[in-house]
Amino acid sequence: MADQQTALIIGASRGLGAGLVRELAGRGWSVIGTQRKPSAELAEAGAAAIETVDIDDHASVTALAGKLAGQAFDLVLVNAGVTGPGHASADKVTGQELGALMMTNAVAPIRTARTLLPLVKDDGTVAFMSSGLGSVAGRTHDMAELYSASKAALNSLTRGFAAKDVAGKNVGVVNLHPGWVKTDMGGEGADIDVATSVAGMVDVLEANRGPGHKFLDYQGKTLPW
Ligand SMILES: NC(=O)c1ccc[n+]([C@@H]2O[C@H](COP(=O)([O-])OP(=O)(O)OC[C@H]3O[C@@H](n4cnc5c(N)ncnc54)[C@H](OP(=O)(O)O)[C@@H]3O)[C@@H](O)[C@H]2O)c1
Repeated sequence: MADQQTALIIGASRGLGAGLVRELAGRGWSVIGTQRKPSAELAEAGAAAIETVDIDDHASVTALAGKLAGQAFDLVLVNAGVTGPGHASADKVTGQELGALMMTNAVAPIRTARTLLPLVKDDGTVAFMSSGLGSVAGRTHDMAELYSASKAALNSLTRGFAAKDVAGKNVGVVNLHPGWVKTDMGGEGADIDVATSVAGMVDVLEANRGPGHKFLDYQGKTLPW
């Protein structure tokens, strides 16, 4: 019998993160999900364990890495993300608002991945929850300009992570676009439900193991950087 696959999902209290835990556990994976505060949704998602992490508080990430030292994961996925200020406008944004958005969506995910990389198995995957809105080449509108810029920054930082941190290791790096999904962030009017998105993303991750850096949507389509 094949070894049970293992995953660590950072930011799994609700929405896509909780959905990923549910989907992976349903496929027989052993999954650790993280929350910032107790989440009823994560408690019911089938995780093997639940840990507490705020990616903006790097000490909490370091503490998790220490606690999990010696374990090896097939998949470490940084899902945590925020929308940013409601006005979503470069004309109105304060430095504090921009700093918070860029920290959570771009800088903290990279720091988190660097700290957790020793826990990734040979032949494992580090995945980041990006967005189609983070594609500079695919951008033909001005929607959500700050959020989009934060995901473009995440894409840029992950290029460096793939080129330097992961270089020489048999570890893949995947930036995911989940589709436009009905969550607190995506809203009721979004295209697809969480179950459809997470089933697609897990299929895509299972089909795309191995070295390299890819930007893929939940149906396996390659997005332009
Ligand atoms: N929904 C969409 O259509 C869509 C499309 C493209 C990309 N995405 C991306 O997909 C990811 C998940 O989004 P979602 O739609 O599921 O949104 P959501 O329902 O708003 O969930 C966001 C998740 O991120 C966590 N989080 C936020 N800041 C965090 C931090 N500093 N440390 C740890 N966890 C943190 C939240 O935890 P708390 O419960 O503690 O707040 C929550 O679990 C995000 O990266 C988002 O940008 C979503």
